[in-house]
Amino acid sequence: MKKVIAIDGPSGAGKSTIAKLLARELGFEYLDTGALYRAVALNLMRLGLDNNSSDKDIASALRKTKVEFKKGQVILNGEDVSREIRSPEAGHYASVFSARKAVREHLLKIQRDASMNSDLVAEGRDMTTVVFPDAFRKFFLDASVGERTRRRTWELISKGFEVSEERVRLDIMERDIRDSKRDLAPLRKASDAHLIDSTGLSIDDVFNMMIDIIRGA
Ligand code: DC
Repeated sequence: MKKVIAIDGPSGAGKSTIAKLLARELGFEYLDTGALYRAVALNLMRLGLDNNSSDKDIASALRKTKVEFKKGQVILNGEDVSREIRSPEAGHYASVFSARKAVREHLLKIQRDASMNSDLVAEGRDMTTVVFPDAFRKFFLDASVGERTRRRTWELISKGFEVSEERVRLDIMERDIRDSKRDLAPLRKASDAHLIDSTGLSIDDVFNMMIDIIRGA
């Protein structure tokens, strides 16, 4: 395993923005594990599976699911799904299917393999606790529900999705509960992760705090 900077946190905490900036600054690859869960969930939805489907059916569908990152795009079985996976619906199903054992086991190896040849900034829900427990630096990035709602609403609108702030707030609260209360790899702060609360902070503030910790300042 090469060097990994692992970042966990709830929806809308700013993980992707910061992880991309850190990766660029450090010359590391960026691993967006939420995109993997979203693309897999999209394919399971398309194959007609839902949360009542058996582990066996999900595992069999996963054998027909190939997700790749190419030039910043997310490719599902050869199709560019970069925009579709960002829809609120895909986010919902990613959260639902990510609680399933077959899905987590399938993606665990893919995520660890990504660290074999490249230094990584990896972000998600279980980077610091399950996937890369021996990461070089670990962070838990958080922010208030109000701030996360505003950021996520703005992000979705700027991507062309029609959403209301109230709908996004409810979705964030529902996902917080589902992602942190599930049995497998729940979202939680690792005891040795640095807690960064980005409420009221600018992207630059958060970036500078994290880069100082990474460089051991
Ligand atoms: O970070 P995101 O919003 O793109 O993630 C979508 C969902 O995927 C999230 O609600 C839970 C799941 N997920 C996960 O369980 N583990 C990860 N490492 C990343 C995402």
